[in-house]
Amino acid sequence: MNQALAAAARGPLEASEFAMTQRDFKDIAAMLYADAGIYIPETKTTLVYSRLVKRLRALNLENFRDYCDLVGSQDGAGERLEMLSALTTNVTRFFREPHHFEHLRSRVLPPLIEAARRGGRVRLWSAACSSGQEPYSMALTVLGLEPNAAALDIRILATDIDPRVVEEGRRGVYSAAALVDAPAALRSRYFTLAGGDARGALQASEELRRLVVFRTLNLNGVWPMPGKFHVIFCRNVVIYFDERTQQSVWGKFAGKLERDGVLYIGHSERVTGPAAASFVSDGVTAYRLKGGDGA
Ligand SMILES: C[S@@+](CC[C@H](N)C(=O)[O-])C[C@H]1O[C@@H](n2cnc3c(N)ncnc32)[C@H](O)[C@@H]1O
Repeated sequence: MNQALAAAARGPLEASEFAMTQRDFKDIAAMLYADAGIYIPETKTTLVYSRLVKRLRALNLENFRDYCDLVGSQDGAGERLEMLSALTTNVTRFFREPHHFEHLRSRVLPPLIEAARRGGRVRLWSAACSSGQEPYSMALTVLGLEPNAAALDIRILATDIDPRVVEEGRRGVYSAAALVDAPAALRSRYFTLAGGDARGALQASEELRRLVVFRTLNLNGVWPMPGKFHVIFCRNVVIYFDERTQQSVWGKFAGKLERDGVLYIGHSERVTGPAAASFVSDGVTAYRLKGGDGA
């Protein structure tokens, strides 16, 4: 067989710049599932190749077998995190799915803010926060109703499995274009021109950042937070999990919500499995935990 025919018989990715066999793909997919609960079907082989090829170049490796050996070894723990970062999809936006923020502003926050003004504790969680646009949108919504919020016991926990995006969120610096969907009055009050940035990047103000606490957290690992939440945003992440993993996460959220607490999920997601019975629909992809008047 000539070289071209042999390459075609092996499959397109075995003939690419860095050979990736079906076994390499399966090993990478198994590691990602074990680490994050993310399920990648074989139809995504090209995507996995294109996201990891930079890592092979950076490490001067010749093929994916060597890469699998590295990330599967104890010495490869740091690279395993790089792999996770490269394979997670971090797409997000300020005020993404704006109906959730309108629901939060008009139906959920008013009694919570009242309670906080009387000295109560209010907790919100952006679970899978990516680079911070979602938790800062929640915080801006809070500040729009109560400019003194940071002085009250209101806090937003922002977590993601990918430490890089968590660090970006903590820095709180965004391009002006990224903020176009934020209400103009809130944007100009809570963002300032980042020092020395000629391209006009904007920095989240101290007041805004004080409301949000960023942490690295795997939704499929142990959750160390002792308390419950009044509001949980978990949007556009469980779509990457298989059904079993999704159901386990929904069950854990039900146990982490206060009575009448609200769970917001992504537009293409549904609460399924035994936990679904714990929730009632409260708007478009918004659910309330049963237990209040509607129970
Ligand atoms: C598409 S972004 C969604 C961001 C935001 N929630 C939104 O809707 O705009 C998905 C995020 O989920 C995170 N993620 C994936 N698997 C995770 C896991 N097991 N635990 C926590 N976060 C995870 C990714 O790192 C990524 O930042």
